[in-house]
Amino acid sequence: MTTPDETTPGTRADETSASDQTTGAIAPSGFLWGASTAPHQTEGNNVGSDWWVYEQRMPYFNPSGDAVDSYHRYEEDMRLLAQAGLNAYRFGVEWARIEPLPGQFSLAELAHYRRMIDTALSLGLTPVVTLHHFSSPRWFVEGGGWLAENAVERFCAYVERVSDILDGVEWICTINEPNMFAFMMLMAAAINSDAVPAMDTPTVQREDGFVLPRPLPQATQRLIEAHHAAREVLRRRTRAKVGWTLANLVIHATGPEAEAMAQEEREVREDVFLRAARGDDFIGVQAYSVQPVDSDGLVPHPPHPDNTLVGTPYRPDALGIAARHAWEVTEHVPVLVTENGIATADDARRIAYTREALKGLFGAVDDGVDVRGYLHWSALDNFEWGHWEPTFGLIAVDRQTFARTPKPSLAWLGDTARRGRS
Ligand code: BGC
Repeated sequence: MTTPDETTPGTRADETSASDQTTGAIAPSGFLWGASTAPHQTEGNNVGSDWWVYEQRMPYFNPSGDAVDSYHRYEEDMRLLAQAGLNAYRFGVEWARIEPLPGQFSLAELAHYRRMIDTALSLGLTPVVTLHHFSSPRWFVEGGGWLAENAVERFCAYVERVSDILDGVEWICTINEPNMFAFMMLMAAAINSDAVPAMDTPTVQREDGFVLPRPLPQATQRLIEAHHAAREVLRRRTRAKVGWTLANLVIHATGPEAEAMAQEEREVREDVFLRAARGDDFIGVQAYSVQPVDSDGLVPHPPHPDNTLVGTPYRPDALGIAARHAWEVTEHVPVLVTENGIATADDARRIAYTREALKGLFGAVDDGVDVRGYLHWSALDNFEWGHWEPTFGLIAVDRQTFARTPKPSLAWLGDTARRGRS
C-alpha cells in the first residue's frame, strides 16, 4: 500500500516560504494554491448524464444547457488562474462522456481530458482530478445505479480506463462528497419512474424549513466500497496521491441537551466517511458554513440578512474547524482543501470571507495539522446544481457570449498565493 509522501513539503513551519506580519499565518512551501470546478457545472451539454434528466424533471430546477462552455474554453479558464498567480486547478472528468454506453469507451473524450491535463501542466498548474462529482451516466442509473450489485465493478471499469490518461497527475479525488451524494441518489427516482422526489439540490438550502435527509446506510456502505476499490486501481496504475473529498458540515449542538444527537448526526453524515479515508494519501476538506443540531436533529438555517446566496450562515471560521476535525477523525491523513468559498454577488465579501477562512486554516497549520493546499470554490460562476443565481466564482461569465471577466477576488487570491500567505 502506498503511504502518504512524507517528504512532500507542506507539513512543517520551518520549511515555510513566508510569514504574515498581521495574522501569523504561514503557507508551507510547495503549498497548492488554486481553484476548483466540476465537469457538469461548467462544461455544458452533458446530455448523457443522469443530471441532465433531473434538470428537466425536478420542479425547482433550471437546466444546465451550455453551462459556461468550459468544455471548449478550458484553456482560457486555466490561463486566467495561472496568470493571476495560482499554481493548481481542480477539475473533473465526466464518466458519461468517457463511457457513453456500458463498456463503450470514447477514445476522443479520453484524449480531450488528457489535453486538459497537459494544458494545466504547461501553464504551471498542478492538476487535481476528480473522477466522480455528483453526476453519473444515465445508463448506469437506469440500470439500478449505485445500489445495483455491479455498481462497484462498473465504476472501477471506468476508473481503470481513465487511469490510462492520468500520467503526471499527482492528485486524484475518487468521489466528491459521498456524504452529500448518498442522499442525492434519491433523485434517481426521477429517472426510473414518473415519481418526482420532493427535494431540491442539497447544496441550496430552501427557506421552508427543509433539512437534508440522512444518507441512506446502504448508499454509504456502497460508496465506501467504491472508493476503496477505486483507490486500489489507482495505486496499481498511477503514482498519484489518492483520496476523496467530503462535505465537512461542522455540526455543533445548540446546547448540552443536543450533544448526543449532534454526535449521532456527525457520525452518519460525516465521521463514517472520514474514517473510511484512513489509509488514503489525503482527505479533501470542503467547508462553507456550520450546521446546528438540536435534540431532534438538524436545525434549518433561519433566514438572515447575512446568509449567503445558498441560504447558509456566513461562517468563514468553518474551514479551520473542519480541517482540524478531519485531521483528528482520519487519524492524521494530510488535508487538501479541495473546496471553500461563498455564494455572493458581492466580491468584496468574497475576499473578506476567504481572508478569514485562510486565517482559520493557517491557525490549524500552526497547531500541527498537515495542510497541503487551498483550492477555492469556484474558479467560475457556474451551474449550482439546478440553480444559476448563487455565484461562487473568482471569474464571472456572460452566459450569452461566454466571455470571462476575472473579479478582484481572483487577483487577491493570486497575490496571496504569490506571497505564500493569507
Ligand atoms: C459541491 C459543489 C458545489 C459547492 C457549492 C459542494 O457541495 O462539491 O459541486 O457547487 O459545494 O455549493
